[in-house]
This record gives sequence, structure tokens and C-alpha cells, in this order.
Amino acid sequence: MNDNIIVIGFMGVGKGSVAREVIKNSNYIAIDTDDLIESMENKKIKSIFEESGEEYFRKLEKRVAKWLEKSVQNSLVSTGGGFYKQKNLKKIGIIVLLDSPFEAIIKRIKEHPNAEKKLKKRPLLSDLKAAKRLYNERRPEYLKLADIVINVTDKSAFDCSKELLKKVEKYA
Ligand code: S3P
Repeated sequence: MNDNIIVIGFMGVGKGSVAREVIKNSNYIAIDTDDLIESMENKKIKSIFEESGEEYFRKLEKRVAKWLEKSVQNSLVSTGGGFYKQKNLKKIGIIVLLDSPFEAIIKRIKEHPNAEKKLKKRPLLSDLKAAKRLYNERRPEYLKLADIVINVTDKSAFDCSKELLKKVEKYA
């Protein structure tokens, strides 16, 4: 297994914010799978979904997963909410789930100063009923995969990052 930390969880749970705090307080390098995909394609995720469809996007995630396994060490990898489906996830590193109830995630996004932008850039959040179904489908799978679970509800990204580093240290 590689010595990365791979952060999974539903859209909007705060994977990026927690990752940014973790790298301030550790020697990990930050990598974000959506950012990699956007640079590979030179397009925003939203445009990739619109122009080439979700299946194509999932193929790009697979390429990224293979590359992470083969070439990446000592990194904190934050992922898109569907990246957990990659078969080689366990080989990439310790899997940390950021967990929160669906309603708390939506509240968190809506209260954000950039709420509109955050909702707009996520095609799979455009229909909240469908997003809730997706959450209910995915949550048991996230829990099954996770080596470490952090309940992030009502906690700051800083506190989550501290908890994450403490738990990873104990786990290793
Ligand atoms: C997706 C989550 C998004 C992005 C894409 C698909 C998903 O990332 O990868 O829109 O399937 O849950 P975030 O979890 O960062 O929003």
C-alpha cells in the first residue's frame, strides 16, 4: 500500500477544506482528483459532464486512480464524491471518510458565502431529491471502505484536520 491519505465522502461535506487545513499542519502534498481531471481535460467538471457525460468522467477518474497507485506517495488526496468506486482505492492509501447527515451537508453548502457557485459546479446536486437517494445509496459503501471515519457535522475544517492527523497517526 502507498503511504497516502485518501479522503472520501459525499459532495459538499468539506473534503477540500479539510485537506487544505491538513497540509498546513503536516508534510503531506495536496492532490485533488477533480482538479487533476480538470487540468487533464482543460475543462471544468460541469462542462465535462455536459459535453461528454458522466460515463466519460468516470473513465477519467479511473485513469487518475491508476496513476495515484503507481506514482504518488506522501500525499493527501481529496476525491470527488464518486471516486470511492475505484477498485484500487485501498492500494492508494489509508481511507478517511468525512461523514455527515445529508441535511447537514446541504445546510453547510447553503450557508456558504459562495453557495450558488458551489451548487452550480456540482451537476449531481442539481436535483436534491435525486442527490438524497444517491447519498442513501453511497453512505453504507463509504462506511464499508473507510479505515477511519470523522464525523464533521458542526466542526471547523481545522478541528477535523487535527482529528484526522491524530487518527492517522494512531492507525499507522
Ligand atoms: C461527484 C462529486 C464531485 C465531482 C463530480 C461527481 C460525485 O466532487 O467529482 O461532480 O459523483 O459525487 P465533490 O465531491 O468534490 O463535489
